[in-house]
Amino acid sequence: MKKVLIATEKPFAPVAIKDIKDIFDLAGYECLLLEKYTDKQQLIEAVAEVDGLIVRSDKIDDAVMAAAPNLKIIVRAGAGYDNIDLAAATAHGIVVMNTPGQNANAVAELVIGLLIYTIRNQFDGSAGTELMGKKLGLMAFGAVAQNLGRIAKGMGMDISSYSPLNRPQKIIDAGYHVHESLEALFHYNDIVSLHIPATPQTKGMIGYEAIMQMKKGAILVNSARKEIIDEAGLLKAMTERTDLRYVTDLKLDAHEEAIEKLGKRYVFTPKKMGAQTAEANINAGIAAAQQIVDFIENGVKTFQVNH
Ligand code: 3PG
Repeated sequence: MKKVLIATEKPFAPVAIKDIKDIFDLAGYECLLLEKYTDKQQLIEAVAEVDGLIVRSDKIDDAVMAAAPNLKIIVRAGAGYDNIDLAAATAHGIVVMNTPGQNANAVAELVIGLLIYTIRNQFDGSAGTELMGKKLGLMAFGAVAQNLGRIAKGMGMDISSYSPLNRPQKIIDAGYHVHESLEALFHYNDIVSLHIPATPQTKGMIGYEAIMQMKKGAILVNSARKEIIDEAGLLKAMTERTDLRYVTDLKLDAHEEAIEKLGKRYVFTPKKMGAQTAEANINAGIAAAQQIVDFIENGVKTFQVNH
């Protein structure tokens, strides 16, 4: 009997677990669950006999793979796979996949929620502002940005995007203005929302120079990855520009310093919450489970990210 492990430090909603288990029951696989683990050793022990693995932002490195001699496939139930050592997976003959787009609406809705909380002055009783009529700039135009654009358009926002990943046609097709540079995106918009993955190329990409370009009173939103921010540059820029606000689903490494220096201009969730809805868990979880069954049974490799 094939064995699959769902290993999530931040658990799926119970309803998603049920749906995932139903898929594995139907395939005749045993489904094991490791949630809220606190120690890598627990993960290493849990993978010992498994053929497939479903994770979220859980760090899967060479040591974990080496402890799983039967492991054939890892599916990251979500979009970003920077938590998985792809080179190690390839060396171990393990296929890695993601489930692109499945949790994108949840992240986009969280951005809107955080923005409203921020511009209503964190509900402190003072008069805030509104999103309608404001300029929203999307950095990159993948699934989260596309969902955010759809919602923001319905709220009467003016949307534009800069895609360093070369997809301007999608931006044009959506009817949004295309920026030709990062500087233009930062200079033009009231709100800039970041939607780039964490890669060696994007590490620390958003820093002092970009942020200093921002309009008076602008807001920078990061629901993507903390690694894309040059934290020293961000703190320097925001110390000089006391009109700017930074809103994030990913606490800075310099979290305490940011609270001290920026006060209420630094708005953060206590834990990464973008994809944490029942719907996103169900969508991504079902896709991950189905991809594992399709790969093991029929060799289907759609969404493979290591080669
Ligand atoms: C993703 O890359 O899919 C999101 O960042 C969600 O990550 P999570 O599954 O850890 O919440």
